[in-house]
Amino acid sequence: MKILVATEKPFSKQATDGIAAIAKEAGYECALLEKYTSVDEFKAAVADADALIVRSDKVTADIIAAAPKLKIVVRAGAGYDNLDLAACSARGIVAMNTPGQNSNAVAELAIAMMIFMARNQFTPGTGTEISGKRLGIHAYGNVGRIVARYGKAFGMEVTAYDPFITDAAVFEKDGVKMASSVAELYKNSDYLSLHIPATPETINSIGYDLLMSMPKGATLVNTARKEVIDEAGLAKALEERTDLKYITDIIPATASELAEKFGKRFFTTPKKMGAETAEANVNAGLAAARQIVSYLKDGVTKFQVNK
Ligand code: 3PG
Repeated sequence: MKILVATEKPFSKQATDGIAAIAKEAGYECALLEKYTSVDEFKAAVADADALIVRSDKVTADIIAAAPKLKIVVRAGAGYDNLDLAACSARGIVAMNTPGQNSNAVAELAIAMMIFMARNQFTPGTGTEISGKRLGIHAYGNVGRIVARYGKAFGMEVTAYDPFITDAAVFEKDGVKMASSVAELYKNSDYLSLHIPATPETINSIGYDLLMSMPKGATLVNTARKEVIDEAGLAKALEERTDLKYITDIIPATASELAEKFGKRFFTTPKKMGAETAEANVNAGLAAARQIVSYLKDGVTKFQVNK
């Protein structure tokens, strides 16, 4: 059996060494394709792979077609919008993610982004503190829960909304208030931290109306996906409300226009870095390798995301 690790954005060496060690112990081969620059390179590398580990790399129907032996794909991370699940299912290929493994890294970045914007992007001048401000968490999954905990540690008043959680006790046990709707959450959040996945329901769902409803001086923090933002609506809101700010870890399609028009009220990281910590690389990479071995040896399908 051969495991291919195909990562345009490489893992740390500690993580790839760990993946190779898990493969070796299982009696499998392990190959590495890092920083590749073309789909053809990916196709060639996957041609003899039985298992595939990726990060945000796009596993399209074309990639699947180029991998006749493929049995399992693991997205080492949370969001699996980069996997063509239908193409996997059509071939009987199991697709998985590694939920929770890189959450702390993303949560730390979300808090750092709030402080960075509160302190004028670390440029001279009087900033503000996040303590005492209202933090809204949009989606209370693995990352959202940690951001809530860290927000509370900073003295923030934390409220959350999750379309799949209707029991207020789930939030209350963490000292977090439950918002009854997305609208209520945005209306009462000085900082809004986004943790929704990109799905047909969420794509372009955060735009003009929600932003315009936010309190004076509010900041939207996106460590989730760029696709969930309606960028035209965002630009219109930032234009009309000169107190609003947007910071993102996923380069917007219209990044240069936003940077030019909104100066210090907008910031994007140059490349998604939420999960870019040594710890997250090891946690997610090794979990992916272990899940592959458990599936190929024992048929374990925990964390399968397709049917
Ligand atoms: C995730 O969904 O786990 C994060 O967005 C991390 O993505 P990355 O592996 O491309 O850094």
